Order: sequence, then structure tokens, then C-alpha cells
Amino acid sequence: MNSLFIVTFTLFNAVTFGYSSELDYDGWLQIRLYHALNDDPIPYFTERGNITVTSIRTGAPTLAQMGLQPSQIANLETLAHRGTNYRLKAVIRSSSGTESTFLTSVPACHLLGTDLEDILTVWLDLAAEPVAINQISPGPCTLSKTSTNMWTTSIQIRYPDGGPTPDTASYIYKLEKEKEARERGEVKDNRSFLAKYWMYIVPALIFVVLTSAANPDAAAGGGNGGQRQ
Ligand SMILES: *[C@@H]1O[C@H](CO)[C@@H](O)[C@H](O)[C@H]1NC(C)=O
Ligand SMILES: *[C@@H]1O[C@H](CO)[C@@H](O)[C@H](O)[C@H]1NC(C)=O
Repeated sequence: MNSLFIVTFTLFNAVTFGYSSELDYDGWLQIRLYHALNDDPIPYFTERGNITVTSIRTGAPTLAQMGLQPSQIANLETLAHRGTNYRLKAVIRSSSGTESTFLTSVPACHLLGTDLEDILTVWLDLAAEPVAINQISPGPCTLSKTSTNMWTTSIQIRYPDGGPTPDTASYIYKLEKEKEARERGEVKDNRSFLAKYWMYIVPALIFVVLTSAANPDAAAGGGNGGQRQ
């Protein structure tokens, strides 16, 4: 168990130190927003606007959102009085070219309480592909009229591990995979696992052997379950 952990840890370090000079990955997101201001089970989506995040590292967005029409504000107030939700659909295109659609919602009365202020959090996986979007409007929940018809929207980019930027090793792994695929064209790398990774495995094994040699009691105790007198 202990040895396995050390091997894994050493492999991880070898990969990280081996390629840390290549860390320059960034990407962009194009988000098209549609919202539903009706109260039927089936949402009727109309366009709300566009958001472009030119760099997922800095998260700096460009927003182009349409103001709400008086009829849309009336619909939002109806939703608030009924205690139901404002529904948002986001179609996100990422720099890898994939397009994904997500749904999120907030209580309509929160949007009235904040004068149409909301926070959109885009969650990315470790390969920088969007996996979710959440809309938050902190509230308070009120039924009063809004004093504006314009959105005040902020964008956050988050990763499920909680860090502000993704795990370096995973990014490098992705870059390496892409580079290998380019270099060998369509030819598949059919070498065995040992043939490809011996340069990581050998130092890891040496490390394990040295560690066991320096600490023979632990190794013997774990292996035999008893000691001879
Ligand atoms: C959003 O982008 C689409 C396509 O790029 C465009 O047709 C539309 O007019 C844009 N909407 C706004 C509100 O800028
Ligand atoms: C890998 O595949 C090629 C043909 O696709 C073959 O010639 C070669 O012997 C294979 N190598 C191994 C280690 O299996």
C-alpha cells in the first residue's frame, strides 16, 4: 500500500518536472444565453445575449445582453408573485470546438430584489471543457418593481477541485497527448506500457528500494506479520 503510494507520487512528480516548461495553455468560451419568462412546465426560451470569455485563465468576459422589454418585466413579476423560477439556458462553445447546452434557474423574486443582478459560474473540467453553469442571484426575495431593465451580470470560471486554475499535471497530460497524436499521425503507439514509461518507473522503483532499505523494520513487519526471535 505504502509502496504503491510512493510509486504514484514519484510518477506524478516525474511528469510534472519533466514538462513544466510547456505550461502555456489557455482557451476561450462563447456563451449564448436564452431565458424563459413563462410559467409553463415547458420553457419558452428567447434570446438574452452573448458572453465571450476570451481567456479562461483571467476569466475576463465581454458581455452583450439585451435589456428586458416591459412585457418581459411584467412576466418576471408574475413569476415572482407565483413563487416560481426564472429559467436560463446557456449554449457554450469552447476553444476545442465542442458545444454544450446547460440549464439553470433562480427564484424570480431574487432578480427583482437585486435589480436584475446575477452571477454566472461556469464550471470547467480539468481539460477546460464546460461541465455546468450555475446562475445565482443573492436576493433578497422581493416582489417590488425593478428600477432598471438592464442586467448586471458577473462571470466566474471555476474548476471542481476548487482551485482558480486547473491542475497543472492534467493540462500537461492533455497537451502531451495532443502532441503525440500529431507527431505520430494516425499510427498508433502500440509499444507496451513498460517500453513507454520505463524512464519513470525505474527511478520510482529505485526510490522504493532505497526507502525500504532505510526502514527495514516497517518492510519486514508488513510482509511477514511477525518477527523471529
Ligand atoms: C449573439 O451572437 C449571435 C451569433 O454570433 C448573433 O446573431 C446575435 O445577434 C448576438 N446577440 C447579441 C445580443 O449580441
Ligand atoms: C506495432 O504495430 C506495427 C504495425 O502496426 C507492427 O509492425 C509492430 O511490430 C508492432 N509493435 C509491437 C511492439 O507490437
